[in-house]
Amino acid sequence: MKTFYIKTYGCQMNKYDSEFISSIFIENGYIETEKIENATFIVINTCSVRERAESKVYSEIARLNNLIKNSNVKIGICGCVAQHLGENIINKYNNVSFIIGTEGLFRLSDVLNRVEHGEKVIDVFFSENNFATGKFKRKPGVSAFVSIMKGCNNFCSYCIVPFVRGREISRKPNEIIDEIKYLRDLGYKEITLLGQNVNSYGKNLDESINFPKFLSMVNNIDGIERIRFVTSHPKDFNEELISTMKDCEKVCEHVHLPLQSGSDRILKMMSRKYTYKEYIEKIYKLKKSINNVAVTSDFIVGFPGETLDDFNNTLNAVKEIGYHTIYAFMYSPRPGTKAAEIDDNIDKDEKKRRLSELINLQSNITYKINKSYEGKTTDVLIEGFSKKNANILMGRNRQNQIVNFVSSKLLEQGTIAQVRIREGKKNSLFGEFIN
Ligand code: SAH
Ligand code: SF4
Ligand code: F3S
Repeated sequence: MKTFYIKTYGCQMNKYDSEFISSIFIENGYIETEKIENATFIVINTCSVRERAESKVYSEIARLNNLIKNSNVKIGICGCVAQHLGENIINKYNNVSFIIGTEGLFRLSDVLNRVEHGEKVIDVFFSENNFATGKFKRKPGVSAFVSIMKGCNNFCSYCIVPFVRGREISRKPNEIIDEIKYLRDLGYKEITLLGQNVNSYGKNLDESINFPKFLSMVNNIDGIERIRFVTSHPKDFNEELISTMKDCEKVCEHVHLPLQSGSDRILKMMSRKYTYKEYIEKIYKLKKSINNVAVTSDFIVGFPGETLDDFNNTLNAVKEIGYHTIYAFMYSPRPGTKAAEIDDNIDKDEKKRRLSELINLQSNITYKINKSYEGKTTDVLIEGFSKKNANILMGRNRQNQIVNFVSSKLLEQGTIAQVRIREGKKNSLFGEFIN
């Protein structure tokens, strides 16, 4: 029996790609297994955004390579590390049968075929207009990712993504709409549109379309109940998008708008192309126009040259904005990026200290926000049961908060339940079904 196991690192884009990879393996007669030891083919979908993510991949491949030394188990490496470092990996580990980058992923079926005929394949070629997307086989579910574009043109000074994923290219609107309708017919209720910077969607297309117009098109698809999108770049986040969000009843009240730093000096060094003042003015407009909107963000601490003053500006920004949650990372130099040439002069302990100070500050804010929901009613799209307790249902509200709740009525996955919040917890809400 041919079986495969897939391990996914990195962002939503990689999760989407992993679904595509699974579909190709299944099409080729493989059965997915949740246990790595049962697999005849092990696939690792890799991320290179931070050094740690990348080195984890290497240690994992080395470990697997040793473990399966004398067996027929094959290893396939996909994703950003594969795209970036292709040959280096295959030469180092003899059980690795293929390396396929994010760009060639649409050729995976062919690659798999060649591997089954005894070849070792490296495919890290760029291919402008091909996407590993479409009506591929999906597992049943409630919420699906849909990639609307690939690549990135922003070249933030610290970031490896533009080097790995290439230039920004948008998919044609009709192809995406077809994919969403296909997902709707499979029973999906919520769609998250994916791109490194969704606000520049459509720029390379002949059709006169932009992201807000496209959102309205998706909003018109019957049967889809909720629409989300990640990620918005603050420099391109504008009033047209805010008013479209307001007009489109399916677009959820949640925006992920990564600030990265509260210091203008650091933002400039990061090539983010906005100041804190410009950013917060957009947040004020957003909060004014859209009731109960949740804003979330990413931050990098310990960027080369970040002083305590700069860091304090970040802390103050977090206090001022009141994010629902943030993702905070220690700066990690990526070879080939502009920032990697600047002397990384902050020692690791100090970076760690700043990271935990920022995370602690945000934890308290998140907790306070969660408490403020107590007694209120919120709409929850039911995803299933709580991991810890099968008597408790789990889903998310439009603000993307996790809500666990009890219900005396039998409720199905994929329905939207009104839940009264009894308790705001540190990372989630707890409540009871009322309607
Ligand atoms: N395109 C998205 C994010 C892509 S990467 C955007 O622009 O928001 C996700 C997050 O990883 C980034 O927002 C950033 O906070 C973090 N990140 C990227 N490169 C990094 C690096 N070299 N070191 C630490 N964190 C990094
Ligand atoms: Fe990286 Fe910046 Fe592009 Fe995001 S916008 S992927 S942080 S270069
Ligand atoms: Fe990582 Fe590639 Fe995503 S580097 S964050 S998996 S685009």
